[in-house]
Amino acid sequence: MTLKEAIVQRHSVRKYTDKKIDEATAAELQKAIDECNRHSGLNIQLILNEPEAFGSGMAKYGSFENCSNYIAIVGKKGDDEKCGYYGEKIVLRAQQLGLNTCWVALTVNKSKISYKANRGEKLLIVIALGYGQTPGHTRPTKSTEELSKIVKGEMPGWFSEAMEAVKLAPTAINQQKFLFVLDGNEVTAKTLFGFYAKIDLGIAKYHFEIGAGDAHFVWKSVED
Ligand SMILES: Cc1cc2nc3c(=O)[nH]c(=O)nc-3n(C[C@H](O)[C@H](O)[C@H](O)COP(=O)(O)O)c2cc1C
Repeated sequence: MTLKEAIVQRHSVRKYTDKKIDEATAAELQKAIDECNRHSGLNIQLILNEPEAFGSGMAKYGSFENCSNYIAIVGKKGDDEKCGYYGEKIVLRAQQLGLNTCWVALTVNKSKISYKANRGEKLLIVIALGYGQTPGHTRPTKSTEELSKIVKGEMPGWFSEAMEAVKLAPTAINQQKFLFVLDGNEVTAKTLFGFYAKIDLGIAKYHFEIGAGDAHFVWKSVED
């Protein structure tokens, strides 16, 4: 499965089966996590076979069911965009490995999450993980026109494809509070106000890069 295919097939999944993640699959995922930690300086951790954080029986959290695996993203203050970007790399790798996921900021029992943090680090967010009872479903999205702007000229084909990938990016409460602006070969990705908007932006930027393929564009930071 290519990353573009993984983007299309990924949906948030909150109900899981009892199937365990086998050692070989866990090792592949751990490899992706180690690489992300090396590149980002984040402290991302894979936690398997621990059902407490998502509750069981009456103590169910949100609409989660039978979730015993998750990824804890631990990092420093100000790491939110990075957390979204590298977390989504792991989400799409998990999809390629036949797993399902859901980013979870709120509907999890934070006191029951087992993670380790070094000095100056904190838990930024969690990603639920496992074999879904279903593959999830498609949902509404804002249009490319609402999510992007072209400063001059026509929208190039590669930009339009990149925006298709952005539209499929998961965002908190499906808010899609961002704007991608193309000026020449420079792209600025801006957050608009919203909960967890910087994590959303990091996720969307990773999708944009995959959708853009080998097009030659450069990220321009908002401050430039
Ligand atoms: C930063 C972030 C936080 C999220 N927090 C939660 C959450 O607390 N509970 C939940 O059930 N879903 C949560 N989600 C999942 C979103 O609701 C979901 O991604 C969005 O509705 C789009 O649907 P899709 O992922 O199927 O494309 C979160 C997603 C993101 C990106």
